[in-house]
Amino acid sequence: MTIAAQTTPRVNPNAPTLQKVLAVKHHTDRLFSFRIERPQSFRFRSGEFVMIGLPKDDGRPLLRAYSVASPAWDEELEFYSIKVPDGPLTSRLQNIQTGDEILLAKKSTGTLVLDALVGGRRLYMFSTGTGFAPFASLIREPETYSRFEEIIVTQTCRDVAELAYSRESVAAAQADPLVVEEATRQLRLFTSCTRETYPQAGRITHLIESREVFEKLGVPALDPETDRAMICGSMEMINDTKALLLQAGLVEGSNASPAQFVIEKAFAG
Ligand code: A2P
Repeated sequence: MTIAAQTTPRVNPNAPTLQKVLAVKHHTDRLFSFRIERPQSFRFRSGEFVMIGLPKDDGRPLLRAYSVASPAWDEELEFYSIKVPDGPLTSRLQNIQTGDEILLAKKSTGTLVLDALVGGRRLYMFSTGTGFAPFASLIREPETYSRFEEIIVTQTCRDVAELAYSRESVAAAQADPLVVEEATRQLRLFTSCTRETYPQAGRITHLIESREVFEKLGVPALDPETDRAMICGSMEMINDTKALLLQAGLVEGSNASPAQFVIEKAFAG
């Protein structure tokens, strides 16, 4: 009889690990982004999400799904988060500082990946709020530009200040030596606001329906022959945008069955 076998604590090989916070940036009183150390063993595809979080008072992990906002080649991991005052995780996460530690799960997953789309000419990335995060990753990914001739990323927010992160991310991609030429030539950002005066007003669904987004960009309306799309936002925004893509004749895809558009719910809470 081996007594050791009975007393050795069980170690979960998939348990999240603690990673050091390297930088925190508060964009508005509702939004912040932060960077953490990336374990050398942590693999992911640009556009995927992973569970991250903090230990609870009882020591057990409190985790939520977050899209990685940095590209797969980056040595660090970036995340973009909303601050929900009574949110179980974000009410605490918003107070993290450089040098603190947060939990990172071992495995990533997700459908907002290039592999889930069939080839096309133009790739739309439709986002609202923190739904922009996976696109911050994909616009720094060289493969995005080799797979599609034109990348149009859209972000709609309530207020003008909430568009800062997408503007900064696109500017960073267009200054990144790895993709500077492609991002300058092939990438465009389209922003709109719903609750503050802004040149482009209204929800993205309204702007697709009215065709204003296409007119402003000088491109033809959605066409399943040439156009591919990714959608990331609230459940309602995804459903409403998805209905318009289906109406235009695009077919929803997945990792197992790549097609013309893919969806993922943005984290909130
Ligand atoms: P609105 O101000 O009209 O609600 P939130 O901050 O609540 O996540 O919203 C982010 C943005 O998404 C807001 O501009 C909001 O517009 C917009 N939005 C909310 N619901 C939908 C929807 N069903 N379809 C398209 N856009 C939406």
